Amino acid sequence: MDLFPSSNFHREDDVKDNYVAMAFVLGVSAVLSWLVISEVISPLNEYPGPFLAKWTNWWRFALVRTGSYHIRIKELHDQYGPVLRIGPNLLDLDIPKLVKTLYGSDASWQKTEFYKNNSVVINGKTTYQLFSEIDPASHARMKRPIAKFFGHGMVLSKEVLMDKAIIDLCSHLEYRYHEKSCDLGEWIAFCAWDILGNMTFSQPFGYMDKGYDFDHSLSIADKSLDYFAAVGQIPFLDNLLDKNPIIRLGPPNLGNITLIATKHLTERLAAKDFKPSGALDYLQHFIDVNNSDPNVTETDILMNLLTTLIAGADTTAITIRTIFYYSLRNPPVYRRLEEEILAAKLAEPAPYSLARALPYLEATVREAMRIHPSVCMLLERYVPEPGLTLPDGNYIPPGTAVGINPYVLGRNNDIWGPDANEFRPERWLRGEEESEDAYRGRMKRFNAADLTFGGGSRMCLGRYIAQMEVYKVVATLVSHFEIELADPTSEWKVVGSWFPRQKGLKCHLKSRS
Ligand code: HEM
Ligand SMILES: *[C@@H]1O[C@H](CO)[C@@H](O)[C@H](O)[C@H]1NC(C)=O
Ligand SMILES: *[C@@H]1O[C@H](CO)[C@@H](O)[C@H](O)[C@H]1NC(C)=O
Ligand SMILES: *[C@@H]1O[C@H](CO)[C@@H](O)[C@H](O)[C@H]1NC(C)=O
Ligand SMILES: *[C@@H]1O[C@H](CO)[C@@H](O)[C@H](O)[C@H]1NC(C)=O
Ligand SMILES: *[C@@H]1O[C@H](CO)[C@@H](O)[C@H](O)[C@H]1NC(C)=O
Repeated sequence: MDLFPSSNFHREDDVKDNYVAMAFVLGVSAVLSWLVISEVISPLNEYPGPFLAKWTNWWRFALVRTGSYHIRIKELHDQYGPVLRIGPNLLDLDIPKLVKTLYGSDASWQKTEFYKNNSVVINGKTTYQLFSEIDPASHARMKRPIAKFFGHGMVLSKEVLMDKAIIDLCSHLEYRYHEKSCDLGEWIAFCAWDILGNMTFSQPFGYMDKGYDFDHSLSIADKSLDYFAAVGQIPFLDNLLDKNPIIRLGPPNLGNITLIATKHLTERLAAKDFKPSGALDYLQHFIDVNNSDPNVTETDILMNLLTTLIAGADTTAITIRTIFYYSLRNPPVYRRLEEEILAAKLAEPAPYSLARALPYLEATVREAMRIHPSVCMLLERYVPEPGLTLPDGNYIPPGTAVGINPYVLGRNNDIWGPDANEFRPERWLRGEEESEDAYRGRMKRFNAADLTFGGGSRMCLGRYIAQMEVYKVVATLVSHFEIELADPTSEWKVVGSWFPRQKGLKCHLKSRS
């Protein structure tokens, strides 16, 4: 075949074009040779992975956009083994032993640029919050004054802030879905957001009252996390998309939630004599930090509010949905859970201290967090000096981005056994023939491989809130209703993103009373 028909190729007008074409070809070959050379000499060459992934991050970008990133990555681990190269400079590790190394107390394992793009522009300045700040010193400065408000004892004192919303959930479900099926998954999200509204501002958002995402904040939050999950694979893209000062090409950002937070902050600062009716909310805590440190600015307060709002509702909703979905599809599990909760004769809403003491409920919660953690992507960190030596002796040089994915780790057969893909809360309980020592050893191994809430200095700040909410909501719903899946055979749809959200948990609910 003649690629360059001579009649066209030699026309005089085209001489200039030919130079342009040649320059283009030279440029492309230069780039390609550079790619080839850097690939050929890359120290990561010995690690297996999909062919495209070692050349370009676009492979991962495209995979994240499909919504099944976590599922595909797990398949690739099954195919290639524990060390998977998923980018020119990125390794996904499925090695439980390394959890302590990467996510332990050594702050030199810094977050990568992946996180940076979870930022907002305030007064024209890109601003990072607790989650997206990657510099350890700045992160520690941000965290120090507010960490105590999220400690275990402090969170226990905030139980009253969630009680009424949980009662409201039961009454809405009871009156709205009498004798018709209900999307329980959606209502769990409405409730989680209203609880978070009351914890943060002493005012629920009103999703349960309205019965739908009336101000689009929930769907905008989903979209902005989808954006973050994808753009984080190629962070410089963010400069072209979201934060582009000339024209914003990107998808919705956190603007809507920022507006809500700003509105509450402004109102609270104006109402100097604010007195909460019950426990102090987080907005007030964040403002009060200023009493001991007058350097605190309104932007700092706003950033703390935003982190709480972004991280605090969908994560817990995902866990609660997982509990109902998997246990309702495993009738023996659900029956045992139901029996235990009913026998406890809990008040409504279930007091946390009593719900927390139910062993089968605890096993179910842990199993749900294992099989479907609320973060299903790589928790990326840079390897610090002097590099990382893997258990098999292989070496990864400093500057390489590595990470462990809670979803992949949650299904690691070495830790969880051959039935890691099954939902089996019993694995968290002592087996009939198991000695106390063997059980304790097994739990120690399980706990060491639990990355649901991350780890080290970057561990989830809201984990006690999340736990309280999950136990209370599940125990209350099970006590109040007889629950059945509307269609026990239909599977839900999981949209993998930074938070893997689920659609379709249609149930029939019947009040017990
Ligand atoms: C089941 C529920 C939850 C799960 C599974 C979860 C999971 C996580 C994970 C895995 C991280 C670490 C991410 C990383 O290292 O890349 C994280 C960080 C964080 N989470 Fe959660 N989270 C949950 C609920 C909450 C709630 C309710 C709040 C707040 C009210 C919250 C606030 C935060 C904050 C502030 C960070 C950043 C901490 C830091 O970098 O210092 N989370 N969460
Ligand atoms: C959130 O954004 C939507 C769509 O842009 C808008 O209709 C709605 O009023 C916004 N809500 C708030 C509270 O700003
Ligand atoms: C997103 O990450 C890229 C690469 O680190 C960086 O150039 C860009 O400034 C980041 N955007 C924001 C808003 O942090
Ligand atoms: C919000 O919290 C207050 C306690 O500060 C409580 O009295 C109220 O019932 C809560 N509202 C909801 C909807 O949970
Ligand atoms: C406030 O900022 C000033 C100047 O940066 C610093 O010297 C001072 O220690 C800060 N105060 C507190 C309480 O952190
Ligand atoms: C923090 O306190 C200082 C001094 O008391 C005050 O000037 C400043 O406005 C306060 N900032 C906020 C956000 O309340």
